[in-house]
Amino acid sequence: MEELAVFGGRPVREKPIFYGRQYIDQEDVEAVTKVLTADVITSGPQVSDLEKHLCEITHAKYAVAVCNGTAALHLAALAAGFGEGDEVIVSSITFAASSNCVLYAGAKPVFADINPETYNIDPASIRKLITPRTKAVVAVDFTGQAVELDEIREICKEHNLLLIEDAAHAIGTTYKGKPVGSLADMTCFSFHPVKTVTAGEGGAITTNDEKLYRHLLRLRTHGITRDPEEMVHPTDARWYNEQVELGFNYRMTEFQAALLLSQLKKLPRFSERRKQIRKRYNEAFADMPELILQKEIPESDTTWHLYVLHLNLENLNCDRRQFFDALYAENTCPQVHYLPVYWHSYYEKLGYEKGLCPNAEKYYNEVMSIPLYYGLTDEDVEDVIHAVKKVVAYYTKLK
Ligand SMILES: Cc1ncc(COP(=O)(O)O)c(C=O)c1O
Repeated sequence: MEELAVFGGRPVREKPIFYGRQYIDQEDVEAVTKVLTADVITSGPQVSDLEKHLCEITHAKYAVAVCNGTAALHLAALAAGFGEGDEVIVSSITFAASSNCVLYAGAKPVFADINPETYNIDPASIRKLITPRTKAVVAVDFTGQAVELDEIREICKEHNLLLIEDAAHAIGTTYKGKPVGSLADMTCFSFHPVKTVTAGEGGAITTNDEKLYRHLLRLRTHGITRDPEEMVHPTDARWYNEQVELGFNYRMTEFQAALLLSQLKKLPRFSERRKQIRKRYNEAFADMPELILQKEIPESDTTWHLYVLHLNLENLNCDRRQFFDALYAENTCPQVHYLPVYWHSYYEKLGYEKGLCPNAEKYYNEVMSIPLYYGLTDEDVEDVIHAVKKVVAYYTKLK
């Protein structure tokens, strides 16, 4: 048996690969360079073009580009009108921003458990958590796979709740043939560099609701409006604008928008390659009783953001930490997505306790994400598979 690198053996790779990274080509460089010398470099025509393009891709009526995905969620929470005394049901396995946005708005996140097979928010758990104070659901398309939208929308309709879809992982995914972005009251995207397409930092909210759209536009720019109809003291003075509520400067720059427009041209290619890599991993791991494959729901045609390597610890002589360290030492570096949000010490201080979401807690102890991104070569992918199999062979109980 090959000696594991963590115990002094030779690593599968000399050079490390990490779980995700951006892919920037010459076309992207030229697109950004071109707008840097334009008259406007804060939000301008590139941002408008980007918003139009996002509407085309998502089939949403409106899109609002912002400076990152967290800002998108923050504005969505404010436009939704969350406030003190409101409860918002949020997926427990997600990046903290999905639930922080509820706190920013002064409301209380209530954590729903996940489906142990898909890792997405479990509609049955949502149902159990609804109270007269529940205002909305923030559902995260974790790993890029769409949540059970039909059922979640039905629950929201029944209880008059707003649905915010956190699609930070899911640009390019469709649900029953319809693109993510037009299927919830508001959908939030992130264009951070590990995501399928990037703006360096960037985000967007899409919606079909004109009122929400107008509100989002205002909140993005300090709560200031130039529309006399929205003013308390309208005048026809050309310079006049009026702050009518407390907003932020969450604008996107022209060079971020130019980069993202250029990246979006490659989205079908990026998406296809991610699917291919996932398929290859699934084939390689399918018959291994030490690993569990993520369930795919037929409704979601997924642009995969993450590949979750799920350990069947019953068949392994190690815990997740030992497996993670061994894989890391092979230079095929994983990451863990995510700590159940309420396990963060900040949430602990707010009074959340362990034990809230048993499926999420079990999941967290058994998983890591292995490299998945467009720029991986076939050789890289085979190295990752080799490394996973090497670590499994060392720790398997089934010898
Ligand atoms: C599920 C989820 N929601 C929200 C965010 C926040 O996005 P950003 O990093 O662009 O602020 C991220 C990304 O990092 C994420 O993964």
